[in-house]
Amino acid sequence: MPVHDRSSFENIYAGQPRWEIGRPQKALLDVADRITGSVLDAGCGTGENALFFASRGQTVTGIDFLAEPVEWARRKADEWGLTATFLVMDALALKELPEVFDSAIDSGLFHVFGDEDRRRYVEGLASVLKPGGRLFLLCFSDEEPGDQGPRRVSRKEIEDAFAEGWVVERVEPSRYEVRPDPNDSSFADGGPRAWFVVARRAG
Ligand SMILES: C[S@@+](CC[C@H](N)C(=O)[O-])C[C@H]1O[C@@H](n2cnc3c(N)ncnc32)[C@H](O)[C@@H]1O
Repeated sequence: MPVHDRSSFENIYAGQPRWEIGRPQKALLDVADRITGSVLDAGCGTGENALFFASRGQTVTGIDFLAEPVEWARRKADEWGLTATFLVMDALALKELPEVFDSAIDSGLFHVFGDEDRRRYVEGLASVLKPGGRLFLLCFSDEEPGDQGPRRVSRKEIEDAFAEGWVVERVEPSRYEVRPDPNDSSFADGGPRAWFVVARRAG
């Protein structure tokens, strides 16, 4: 089961990442009105999703463990005249972030982690979300065939990951939009099958 580490992401960013679609993910746009207040974007990449919420006047912090996409996100913010904070930071160290947020988004990060790191990541998310705050998460689904790309995640794994301290409000089939690649037909037409998850921090 593939789990992506830092060097695999560095290699992918040396080329053209399939997730670099040049716009926010549709699954997040569809619920944008529910993603309120201050927003943490965990694994923000080059910031398309984070900057969308910044463009709505929200206070946004994006974190990614690689400097290159973070610098790219900062450049986009400058060019587009938007204010957002982008930090080079490991999402497994979220507990060290001295800030709490009303909302968090995760587009393509959760499915990167192995079981133990997944637990640590979810604990970190709980520590940076205000009680009642919501996490909006898009991850590869076990309904996506093949093993190209990240780990596939089942509905039960999502429910288990957020069983304590969270209320899972929604787990529904969705798509993770990717750039078309005529030389690579590994993903389902329309983008890899994904789960769109809304989980509320209990409290
Ligand atoms: C599939 S990409 C998605 C990027 C962006 N969220 C999007 O949807 O366009 C996953 C991102 O998570 C970052 N990442 C992976 N593991 C991470 C970790 N432990 N901490 C912070 N960022 C991580 C990668 O560098 C990459 O930018």
